[in-house]
Formats: sequence, structure tokens, C-alpha cells
Amino acid sequence: MQSIRNFAIIAHVDHGKSTLADRFLEITGVVEKNRHEAQLLDKNPISRERGITIKLAPVKMEYKNYILNLIDTPGHVDFSYEVERTLACVEGALLLVDATQGIQAQTIAHTYKAMEQNLTIIPVINKIDMPHAQVEKTKSDICEFLGVPESDIYEISAKTGQYVEELLEAVIQKIPEPHVNEHINSEALIFDSYYDTYRGVIAFLRVFHGTLKKGTKVKLVATNQVFEIEEVGVFTPELKAKDSLEDGEIGYVVTKLKDIHLVRVGDTVSTDLQNPKAVPGYRPTKPMVYASVFPTDADDFVKLKESLEKLTLNDAALAYSGIFSKALGSGFRTGFLGLLHADVVRERLEREFDLSIILTPPTVEYRNENNTFEEPIADVAIVTPNEYTGPVMRLCEESRGVFKTMDNKTHVYLQYEIPLSEIITIFFDQLKTITSGYASFDWSFKEYRACDAGLLSIMLNGDEVEEFSEYVVYERAEKRGRFLADRLKELIPRQQYEVRIQANYKGKIIASSRIAPFRKDVTAKLYGGDRTRKDKLLKKQKEGKKSMKNVGSVEIPKEVFMKLFKS
Ligand code: GTP
Repeated sequence: MQSIRNFAIIAHVDHGKSTLADRFLEITGVVEKNRHEAQLLDKNPISRERGITIKLAPVKMEYKNYILNLIDTPGHVDFSYEVERTLACVEGALLLVDATQGIQAQTIAHTYKAMEQNLTIIPVINKIDMPHAQVEKTKSDICEFLGVPESDIYEISAKTGQYVEELLEAVIQKIPEPHVNEHINSEALIFDSYYDTYRGVIAFLRVFHGTLKKGTKVKLVATNQVFEIEEVGVFTPELKAKDSLEDGEIGYVVTKLKDIHLVRVGDTVSTDLQNPKAVPGYRPTKPMVYASVFPTDADDFVKLKESLEKLTLNDAALAYSGIFSKALGSGFRTGFLGLLHADVVRERLEREFDLSIILTPPTVEYRNENNTFEEPIADVAIVTPNEYTGPVMRLCEESRGVFKTMDNKTHVYLQYEIPLSEIITIFFDQLKTITSGYASFDWSFKEYRACDAGLLSIMLNGDEVEEFSEYVVYERAEKRGRFLADRLKELIPRQQYEVRIQANYKGKIIASSRIAPFRKDVTAKLYGGDRTRKDKLLKKQKEGKKSMKNVGSVEIPKEVFMKLFKS
């Protein structure tokens, strides 16, 4: 165990994590220099979507008689729980900061998580080769943030490899060997898993105490599932079987279980079947935002169902259940971790499964007991250049945020508690706009909190159209109602009769609009003639329309839904 070093790299998106990992792989001989394609660990099929590494493959490297296990923290705001659990599996973390960008929101949010786990943090400034690298400024920011002397900070170029070997040396010298908790029985913490068609779910884990090997019967504490280990091994980064996994090691276990939902991130694998103890910190992953998905063509329903089934095989955070909409047919209400997660799923359905779908705008779930509503609140960390502090704070207040703390250096670091419904609607988009993309933010779920909410129901000629209706908080009801009434007026084509659009909130009409009917000019042929004849005809026509209004509902083409949901 003295020779093992378990560590992670924490960094903001694009600060160079994958590039640094590649250099480590070359130095330790896992891959030959200049031979492998760029960003080797990123090849993992579950890791790369849209140019953002969601997760790198873990890897075991051997260097100067040491075993260095590098595991990754997911690089996006939707995955803060996974970050926390990953950090619980290691003793140290490299805090990688891009010298051209400085400290960003994820740098800070992840560092706090690392501190909570008592990890040894090695601060590293990356991209020192770049002409506009601001090494000195970044250095003094890090010193102030971590309270460490400048001499503790490593300066590297992950791209050219400059000083990377020295950094690897520091990993060995500074990060402590794994500690063993003698008080618990044989236990291992799961930090990731994926589904393999032939071998079932493969769990990635860190052994805290004891031995795991083929044939051992173990229990998953949270899901109460018992299974016999089929194989254990390490990451080279390909899975490589070995006889056993011992104290302090990081590796994988083949479970043969068919359902990834039974093998959850943060759960404990224990050899004590009677009285297993859990590594503290587990909580079930719960979807935070919901949207409904329908096939554009009703005939594609079965294909959509099969595609979602396939996606959930490897995505334990994705949840869905069948729904029926009068207008859009059969579909699924789907739960996601956040907006990015929703977007990745949408893109995969469209690209990988070649489906054309209608996705309703993501919303949060309001809890409702006896008409008392509660909404999810997020802890939000924002880093912004000084000059945007005013607008950013204004945006936070407009987003019903509660100010927590502020730290004013070259970059301003703000902490707010903001309702999640605001984050996924206004906040997310506007933060980028008002700071020209210079601010970054990170969020994690905090708690449910009482709020004044209700159903904003949209009625067309008196009939509620569920697909347009949604729960909103009081503060947003009027604006949202107004928006929907106006937008639907633009989108719904004229009909033979008048269409009244009304937004109803808590028993009151708070916005309305109307779409005038086609007006056949019945009097056109009546040139001249007397006034009464003209009026008589118009009256007759009006009556005809009146009766039509009472008949049936408004015809809404599918494009209206698609266009509305896009806006
Ligand atoms: P995500 O995959 O989005 O999480 O980003 P990452 O942190 O893994 O960053 P990645 O390694 O993909 O690097 C982002 C970009 O910065 C790439 O274009 C790299 O080539 C570049 N880069 C990384 N390190 C250096 C460096 O030291 N110097 C220079 N000039 N470019 C670098």
C-alpha cells in the first residue's frame, strides 16, 4: 500500500485535464510517445459528447515502483454528486488552472469538495507556453484562494510536456498513501459503472478495506442486491483482469447484473452480507429537471421506447415513464440531472437513433402537499470578471436568488442560493450573454423550499391544453402567461372561427389574446345595394361562426408545439 497513490485532476472545462492525462500516460509508458491518437482516455464511449469530457476512463500507471491510479471527475455542472463521490475515492487532487483563464467556478466548487474530503491538493498552472498566459496573476489568485505559498504551485505545459515529470514526482511525494479504515469490514465505494452486453454491469470502485476477488459473494448496501463477483481487475486503461483487489486499490468488478440502476454511484460493495456498513455519503441520484418527449411521427413510438431503453442501460441517471397527450400522442416523461444531460440525451436520440422528436422545455418538479408548494433550490457558485459583477448580481436577484457570500479579487466569486427553475430558464442563458461568456458557474442541489406556485393553464376557447400548461411560481406567472398567449397567437394558424387564448392562474385570467377568424368577404358581391341587406348577411355569417365556435376544439398543427418549445 505504501506504493499506491490515488489521485484525481480537478479543473474547469477546457483547462487541459485530458491533455495532462495523456502526458502522464506517455511518461509512465502506458502509451508510446507520439504513437497514440490525441486524448487517449477520452476514447471511452461513455465519456465524450459534444467536445466536453463527461468522464475520462480511469487508469492505473506504474512509475518508479509506484502505482499511480488516476480517476477523473466529471467536468460539467450537472454532475456535482459524481464529482463528490469520485473525490471520496482518492487521497489527493491536482487542481489544474488554465493560465489564460484563471480560476473558474468549477475550479472553486470542486476544490471545496476536495477540501471536505480532506484531500491533499496540489495546485498546478497549465498552458504556460501560451503567449498570453498570465502566470503571475493566476499564481497570486491561487495563493490567496488556497492560502498556500507561491512555491507550492507547479507551472506546466500539458501540451509540450514541460515540467510534467516534476509534477508526477510531486504526486508521489505529496499525496499520501491510501489509509485503511480498520473499523469497517471489507468495503469498496463505487464511483462509476457501465453496462456491458455480455458481462452485465461493470462497477468501478475503490477498495477501502479487505479483499475482493472472483467468486466472493458481496452485497450492494443501498440496493440490497447480492451478487457473486465474476471478475476483478484494473484499468490499463483497458480492463485487465487480476486475482484480487486489495486495500487501497482502484479497479473494477464484473457483477453480471443486468440493471445499471442496481449498481449506483456512491453505493458500497460489502463482503459482510449480514451486517454491511456503508461508506458515508451515498445518496440516490435523482432527476432534477423533467421534460416530455414525443416522436414527431406517431409510428416511431416503439422506436423511441427502444431507444430510451438502450440509453438507460448505460445511464443510471436517466428516468422515464409513459404518458399520453391528446395532441402529441404517446410519449415519455423523462427525468434528467440538468440541462446538459437533457441536451445530450436529445442529441443522442436524434443522432445515434435517428429519431425526430418533440421535446418539451425542461421544468423542475414542484412538491405539492395540500396546495403547499415546495421547489428545488440550488447552491450556485459564480466566478466573473470584476466589470460584470453588477449585472451578474442583478441577474441573481432577478432570478429570486438569495445572496450568500462574495469574494472580491481579480475575479469576483459569488455564492447564491437560486431556485433551480430560474437556473434552467433565465439564468443559464443570460449569465453567458451579460458577461460575453466570461463568467462561469456551478450548481448543486441544496434542498426543497416552500414557494408560492400553481398551475398556469392555457385554454383555447375554454378548453385547457395540457401540453401548454405548466407549474410556475407566482412571480413568474404573469410574464410566462403573457408570453404564451402572445406566442401562441403568432403560431396557431387562423381558423374558420375565432380562437381565444387565455392563461389562467389560480382561478384568474392573467393574460389573453385572440386570433381572428378568416373573414370571408360575403358582401363583396353586393356592390351598391342597400345597407340593410349587407348587414343582414354579415349577421348571418356571424351566427354561423358562433355555432362553429361551440363545435369541437381548435386545430393545432404539430409545428406549433415544436416552434413553441424551441422558443
Ligand atoms: P474537457 O475535455 O472539455 O473537460 O477539457 P479538458 O480540461 O480535458 O481540456 P483538454 O485537455 O481537452 O484541453 C483543452 C484545449 O487546451 C485543447 O485544445 C488542448 O490542446 C489545449 N491545451 C491543453 N493544455 C495545453 C497547454 O499546456 N498549452 C497549450 N497551448 N494548449 C493546451
